[in-house]
Amino acid sequence: MYSSLVLLIVARSVAASVESLQFPEFPVHYDKYQKQCGIPVRCEMDTSCPRICDRSQVESWAQAQAALEVEENCALFDKQSFLIGSDEFDYGIFATSGLNEDEKIGVQNTITTENFLQRLSSQSKCAVRNYLEGRCYNLNTSLSLEQCHQGKLYKCDSAYPFRSYNGVCNNLGYATWGQAGNPLKLEIAPCFDDFVSKRRLGCNGQALPNNRQLMVDVQQAMRRDLEPPFHILNMFQVIFSEFVHSDLIGRAIKRSCERTKGFRGCRADGTSESRYKSSLASTIQVLYNDSNYGPQNIECLNFSPIENANDQCRTTYTTKRNTATSYLDLSIIYSDGKYDDCGKLKPYYCQSSEHVTEHNTNSIQFSAIAGLFTQLHNDCVERMQACQQKRSVDDITERCRSLTIAIYQKIIYEELLLALFGDDFYEQCNFESEYDPNLESAVSSMYINGPGRFQHIWIPEQLTYQGKQHPFFIFFYDLERFECNSVIDGMFDDPIFINGLSDQMMNVIFSKNGVRGHCLACLDLERGRDAGVCSFLSYKHYIDGIRNADSRKCYNSFDDLQDIFEPKLVEVLRKHFSSPFDIDMMFAILAYDRLKGTLLPSTVAWATCLEFKRLKSSDRFFYSWNKFLSYAAEELIATIDLKTLLALYAGIDTVPVFPFVTNSERVSAQDLRDAVKSKESAFCYL
Ligand SMILES: *[C@@H]1O[C@H](CO)[C@@H](O)[C@H](O)[C@H]1NC(C)=O
Ligand SMILES: *[C@@H]1O[C@H](CO)[C@@H](O)[C@H](O)[C@H]1NC(C)=O
Repeated sequence: MYSSLVLLIVARSVAASVESLQFPEFPVHYDKYQKQCGIPVRCEMDTSCPRICDRSQVESWAQAQAALEVEENCALFDKQSFLIGSDEFDYGIFATSGLNEDEKIGVQNTITTENFLQRLSSQSKCAVRNYLEGRCYNLNTSLSLEQCHQGKLYKCDSAYPFRSYNGVCNNLGYATWGQAGNPLKLEIAPCFDDFVSKRRLGCNGQALPNNRQLMVDVQQAMRRDLEPPFHILNMFQVIFSEFVHSDLIGRAIKRSCERTKGFRGCRADGTSESRYKSSLASTIQVLYNDSNYGPQNIECLNFSPIENANDQCRTTYTTKRNTATSYLDLSIIYSDGKYDDCGKLKPYYCQSSEHVTEHNTNSIQFSAIAGLFTQLHNDCVERMQACQQKRSVDDITERCRSLTIAIYQKIIYEELLLALFGDDFYEQCNFESEYDPNLESAVSSMYINGPGRFQHIWIPEQLTYQGKQHPFFIFFYDLERFECNSVIDGMFDDPIFINGLSDQMMNVIFSKNGVRGHCLACLDLERGRDAGVCSFLSYKHYIDGIRNADSRKCYNSFDDLQDIFEPKLVEVLRKHFSSPFDIDMMFAILAYDRLKGTLLPSTVAWATCLEFKRLKSSDRFFYSWNKFLSYAAEELIATIDLKTLLALYAGIDTVPVFPFVTNSERVSAQDLRDAVKSKESAFCYL
């Protein structure tokens, strides 16, 4: 009897884990926490469906409105007053690319569908919710307009040994899975007030607390005057994690026809919202008595929302667009594959590629880490060309790209995640898996807009460069000033900041002068609100359910939150929110219910675990099962770990054995280079 019970439990937990990686076709509202804890669920008993008289007429109206909006936005490009000016500190941080004809149709279709659904929602919100969640069988789940049905057909060649640049055909059965330009995906429905696009409200129907005021109080509450406590993770780990994130998602800030350096929300002097604010831009309100911005008379910060992606006009919940492939494929450096005549990437700051350089929000530390992989690619190309073999430039380029991506993936799964998780949780998460062709590769909207931002709160006031401490903001502009070897070396013994939220990230991010700058914590909070992510407690309950945690409790009062947040933070939450249920998802990263052996709060740790399991299992070319990698390639992958990569390209004499932790033991770079040299001939057989 006991043995069958054990079997049953094992079977259940396996089933739960596979299910939890798969995104549902129709995400539905997650109401288990509310039901368990007696919080009213909106539309609970409502099974109505929208009644649409003359549907084709409503669709045409929605399309005409959308076309008008897109044309209006495209005309903005010629009106300088609607754009952020080149003398403003945030010029470039909300940069947008232009739209080609296909993309323009996609954007217009997305707006069309939103208009259509908003119109239905104005009649009955609950009916629209049933429709979005796939419960209205007599209504078609996409619009019938001709423009909505222009899908490309792909024929994939299963024998082609290399990844495409846009992610297409990684999955042979579903060619477009993981493709650049796809929407982020949802495990559970988002929590918009009208279920379509309006911001979430608190349970009493009031607006959520003012973003900046809330975050200033959070900073105040978390400020500790401890000696820097012992913390083992370093800033190299933080920037490396940021780099991995930028590979997973591309910033698709709302676009119009031409590329811009950002649309204006606030007046240039920041005193108020601008008359020249378009529908593409938004703002974050700052109170007159703000401790940092008040004395500067700044009451408005620019905020540019990310574009939605619903190019086929589907009537399910819409999410934000991801302009990058979801795969861990270094799309952040390779982009759509621009090389010189020999197959090398053209080097920019710290040898990083053009695509990295185009990102306006990257520090020199970011470029330096990107540069390690660019150099690996270029070095590989040179070595292959030196072999006495007749290979085409394309073949050499792609083989070197495969090798570089494989080494990068191995570093993520065997070194980065291990350093972040610690041995115990790493084992518990369990990254052992196989390729699953039925699992869609996509990035979770909730992860990216909440728990996935955990690195940001570790940003310190200062970073080491050439033996001296410098404020963090200086590393974001005039990147050519910096000497790259020192940039990398400086990060190894810079501990992450765990004494609260630094002034650098709260007040002067992207600043040019260290006085006027942006608030990264506010941007993070706003991204989540804009994406309609649900409340922290809902999401925590959802994650706890997946991991079969038995301690699912109801947080009826703010005092109940003491097992998640520090007492001073609980007081801030009590001051600003009317119910614990309203607390934003972003607070997941500020929790202190850490799992043993890791700095990550439990919800963040589990969300990260699930995300990276999915990314691995949905990648046909993942290095550990990519059958197109030669024996020689496998040998190099086994040889080049992170410390060896640093020995090869970081220009330092001794490298840390554990590069993600402070004060690591160091070894001679020359010895590691020699080890690669002894395998040099492998480059001829890649
Ligand atoms: C839904 O609309 C599409 C496009 O107009 C059409 O091809 C499909 O047959 C429709 N489905 C149903 C069930 O009416
Ligand atoms: C700033 O003003 C708001 C609204 O008037 C008030 O609630 C808040 O306590 C003030 N904050 C400070 C730091 O004085």
